[in-house]
Amino acid sequence: MFSFSKTLIDWYKTHHRDLPWRHTVDPYRVWVSEIILQQTRVEQGYDYYQRFVARFPDVRSLALATEDEVLTLWQGLGYYSRARHLHQAARSLLPQCQMPQTYEGVRALPGVGDYTAAAICSLAYGMPRAVVDGNVYRVLSRYLGVDTPIDTTQGRKLFAGLAQELMDPAQPALHNQAMMDLGATVCTPRQPLCPSCPLSASCLALAGGQVDRLPVKAHRTRVSNRYLHYIIVCAKEDSLLLRRREGDDIWRGLWELPLVEADHALSLEELLRHPDFCAFLADGSPSDRRDRLQADAPTVRILAEGVKHVLTHRVLHVNFYELTLPQGLCTLPRDSHPLSQAPCSSQGYRCVPIADLPRYGLPALLRDFLQKYL
Ligand code: ADE
Repeated sequence: MFSFSKTLIDWYKTHHRDLPWRHTVDPYRVWVSEIILQQTRVEQGYDYYQRFVARFPDVRSLALATEDEVLTLWQGLGYYSRARHLHQAARSLLPQCQMPQTYEGVRALPGVGDYTAAAICSLAYGMPRAVVDGNVYRVLSRYLGVDTPIDTTQGRKLFAGLAQELMDPAQPALHNQAMMDLGATVCTPRQPLCPSCPLSASCLALAGGQVDRLPVKAHRTRVSNRYLHYIIVCAKEDSLLLRRREGDDIWRGLWELPLVEADHALSLEELLRHPDFCAFLADGSPSDRRDRLQADAPTVRILAEGVKHVLTHRVLHVNFYELTLPQGLCTLPRDSHPLSQAPCSSQGYRCVPIADLPRYGLPALLRDFLQKYL
């Protein structure tokens, strides 16, 4: 019984990766690590995890933080809804700040799906819940030679059942972590290390020469192109305009420069004519504002063009510009209260001193560019 699990766990005992979240069964820390690792590779998540639990060592400290503090610590990791959900979930646990003790309770936390709930409950509480993610689909589809597409309801059900059946319920934590490590270090998507695999002797894909064909997907994910034109607006000395990004899109809650988004890369002339170009000037219709700007012949400089930033389902094509506003055109005061609630202009822009930028959570793309440029 459970020979698959036994072989896997024996291998794990000598080949596991030594990772900081593996030295604890504190459900809070396991939860934080699993949220970080949802869309992030272990190598990238490692330092973020250490910083996160050093700053927020328990549910209470996270619940009492501001969203800005949490987002600032998350800066550069991407998929910021993870940080917002983590924070919301911690707040929902006030005042006791006890992590839920049941699978259903854990699964009901914002941002926790089937995978994360199974990981937390098996690693922290020893519950026999098998995790199923891309690694597990890959290991199982190859080991068992299953070509049912993994991105269909039927495939998801099939693999969830197989994962559960193969798990030794007496050792769920070791089994799940061994699956994660085998998928990440041996049974990799490309050039898997089959000669080093503990399961190679009975792997059907290896026997049938099907390793590179599995797992099968029914649909290809579409990648969309987005064209972003960011403007560093020098409104007052040593400061620039920033606004918090709203809406249901990437980077919600983070801060960004005045932006013009279009369905293609704009020329400088097109940018100057675009209705959003002068939206950071609070008053009047777009054409009034443009007139005011153009009357004063602003200087717009192209700082960088065609900067490519690849996200999972999107490729961002980014241009950066610098616009020095004529004196008096910007009536915003230099912001002396970083992150205070009241926005400075009716459009939500603040005139932020450059020295205060580290206190604002910015998308990595912007932070990296500003660091180079300023
Ligand atoms: N990926 C997701 N969860 C993980 C974990 N706990 N350890 C290593 N990789 C993971």
